[in-house]
Amino acid sequence: MLSSERAAKAHAEEDFAQAVLEGLSRTRRSIPCRFFYDDAGSALFEAITRLQEYYPTRIETTLLEAHRAEIASLAGAGRVLVEFGSGSSRKTRLLLDALDDLAAYVPIDVNDTFLQEAASRLRARHDGFPILPLVADFMRTRALPTKVAGLPKLGFFSGSTIGNLSHTEASAFLSNAAHLLGPGGLFLVAVDLKKDLDILLPAYDDADGVTAAFNLNLLARINRELDGTFDLGRFAHEAVYNEAQGRVEIYVVSLAEQTVQICARSFSFARGERIHTENSHKYTVEAFQSLARSAKWKPIKAWTDAEDLFSLHLLRSA
Ligand code: TRP
Repeated sequence: MLSSERAAKAHAEEDFAQAVLEGLSRTRRSIPCRFFYDDAGSALFEAITRLQEYYPTRIETTLLEAHRAEIASLAGAGRVLVEFGSGSSRKTRLLLDALDDLAAYVPIDVNDTFLQEAASRLRARHDGFPILPLVADFMRTRALPTKVAGLPKLGFFSGSTIGNLSHTEASAFLSNAAHLLGPGGLFLVAVDLKKDLDILLPAYDDADGVTAAFNLNLLARINRELDGTFDLGRFAHEAVYNEAQGRVEIYVVSLAEQTVQICARSFSFARGERIHTENSHKYTVEAFQSLARSAKWKPIKAWTDAEDLFSLHLLRSA
């Protein structure tokens, strides 16, 4: 490992330690969701996207397949595609194949391993444009690679990841994206819609327990990286819909009264006590459009599936 890589790794571990110790010291305990995506977590999330119950990936893919030619013609030729939280970039391939004369592809992701693997897979398929991966938390990205400065941009925010932000964070993210994507920038945003709980809840609590394993991997990661002593058999995954907030809330629940050590500190949990790990906000098409407008984006077009489960929005920087 290079010394700069070692320094980056030490910094990331410190960030994780600090966030966990702080989040678990609060009255309402929580762990920030960006820590889900270590190598094990990123692989488990890939498995979630292939679940029968997890409709978002399937429907977003169908919408991209059905409308990518129109999206490409609205975007025009010569844009830089900038993807926020790219993961495996699997859905992006559909766009990369459809867009005309792309100037570059900039995938942004917190997971370096996943980012580099996806970049090299894509380089083998596409040689017409540079692929410029950026290891970063998309919430804190303040600049794009200098190579793409001044070129027209198309942002892509897939997976309804926008739903994982509060409305305030989502608005701040959209404003920052407007700044990054520049004047005349376009933004394609995938947004999950409000729907019946018999479809919604199984997407966050599947029968095979993949989502449970993904959620509990946070505790396993604390054990691996922060000398944690979580007994994974004594915690459970929970997904509940908060009607007033319009969001699925994800928790880890303590199944017993117990004490856990992390970084040589003790944390006691009552039976039934919860650690909040994620929110997934659901929108109506109109509610998302008004959020976009408040962040200075102009909605150009929205596409939904026949059952109105999921939506894709094309926005233009106002
Ligand atoms: N963006 C995804 C979503 O909200 C992330 C996600 C899917 C997720 N399943 C999850 C996050 C389970 C935490 C737990 O749909």
